[in-house]
Amino acid sequence: MHIIFVNPQGNFDNNDSYWTMHPDFGGQLVYVKEIAIAMANLGHKVDIVTRYIDDPDFPEFRGEIDYYDGIKNLRIIRIKSKSNEFLTKELLWGHLDKWTYNIIDFYEKEGSYFDFMTGHYGDGGIACAMLKAKTTIPYSFTGHSLGAQKLDKLGTNMNNIEELDKKYHFTERILAERTAMYNSDLIFVSTEQERDEQYSHPLYKDITNNIQNPLKFVVSPPGANTTVFAPLAGDNISIGFSDVIENIISRDISDKRRNLPFIISASRLDSKKNHLGLVKAFAINKELNEKANLLISVRGIENAFDSYKNVSIDELEILDQIFKIINEYDLFGKITFISINSQTELADTYRYMTKRKSIFALTAMYEPFGLAPIEAMSTGLPAVVTKYGGPSDVLFEDGIEYGVLVDAFDETDIAKGLLKALNNYEFYKTQGMKRVKQKYTWEATAKKYLDAIVNLEETYKDVAINKFFEKPSQKHLDKSFLRNYLIRNN
Ligand code: F6P
Repeated sequence: MHIIFVNPQGNFDNNDSYWTMHPDFGGQLVYVKEIAIAMANLGHKVDIVTRYIDDPDFPEFRGEIDYYDGIKNLRIIRIKSKSNEFLTKELLWGHLDKWTYNIIDFYEKEGSYFDFMTGHYGDGGIACAMLKAKTTIPYSFTGHSLGAQKLDKLGTNMNNIEELDKKYHFTERILAERTAMYNSDLIFVSTEQERDEQYSHPLYKDITNNIQNPLKFVVSPPGANTTVFAPLAGDNISIGFSDVIENIISRDISDKRRNLPFIISASRLDSKKNHLGLVKAFAINKELNEKANLLISVRGIENAFDSYKNVSIDELEILDQIFKIINEYDLFGKITFISINSQTELADTYRYMTKRKSIFALTAMYEPFGLAPIEAMSTGLPAVVTKYGGPSDVLFEDGIEYGVLVDAFDETDIAKGLLKALNNYEFYKTQGMKRVKQKYTWEATAKKYLDAIVNLEETYKDVAINKFFEKPSQKHLDKSFLRNYLIRNN
């Protein structure tokens, strides 16, 4: 089969450039790349279709066709859109129509079309809807993160909608998601929670509960790259990144605390990841901060204690607040910051930290799925994770715990959860590793996709196509739609 992954945001290349450095180069790109590779390894012809970018700040993305070293059957295809400069995902909406025409031109020139498309995020989803309108080729939608949840978490109301919509383009995004869902032939979700709660949000409910057009959901959890996030094979194994880790420990952690376990935070500095909740929990619980140190990953900042001024305004604000807590509770000698620049360095850090019986923490206000905890668990770190969103399915099933779930809005509960993981280290380590092996590998994810696509192909003749109710290429964006929801909720 020939399958294309439609992913206009971020970009892809052999070096995984900008991964975790930029908000559009995060978990979604890992997901698309890994499933595409797994499908190609299973013998299918696969293309990742993304934007052509000719921008001095992003020189890696100029070639029209690119490849991953050593992977057969997989191409990265970069297609021109209205503008060739790099654009953040919030600014892509008006650029997709032209892009989809150019995608069609590309395959027409090649002389053969693809059999199926998978669209990623609202932008990839609506692009697939546009492509389907033009070609009738079926597609699946994978939301990754839905606008309605973000809108709610940011506390959007009638007073701030104007300002938030300017920044996040919720109107375009939610309309795109609705259109992508309605016209899709399959919807892939990572957890049942995502299907049952996220997709039945009032802003999508009329579509997801529409009995005339029942949507076909497939639960297909993502996996960890178990080659990269492999556990430590023995105490003597050398870890590439250990010099850097040891340097920052001796630089920032006081002498007598250097052998203590660490609590590791590896998320991007983004307010929704709630670093402040974690630091506050660490600060207020004496038992906790006597038992462990805190390590926070901050990409690109060599020594946060010296200076961190060279970051975005949002990151600066978070770091300022973290340092306020450090000063207020005198956490000097108990906390360190590390600049981690690749998945390999991250995996090395995790492996190094398993030697000290350390734990992983992600206390985000909301996490649609949470690939990061799975990667940490795969190396052998017990995970302490927010109970809001997908992690509640990953870390707990049928009365069995695979990690510790915490209330990210309650610092006392976060501290309690961190202590629980530290005090029951072996139990959570074993449970976490077992869980990843049994349920979360990329090959299993790719097979779920393929099974659903093949089944669909067989029954496809019965599926109603061209059922657009909100024409995807039209610019009519009805502002009252969002506002009515906000009025009802205020
Ligand atoms: O890869 C980054 C990512 O994880 C994507 O899945 C998605 O683009 C984004 O973060 C989350 O989106 P948002 O904050 O816009 O809901």
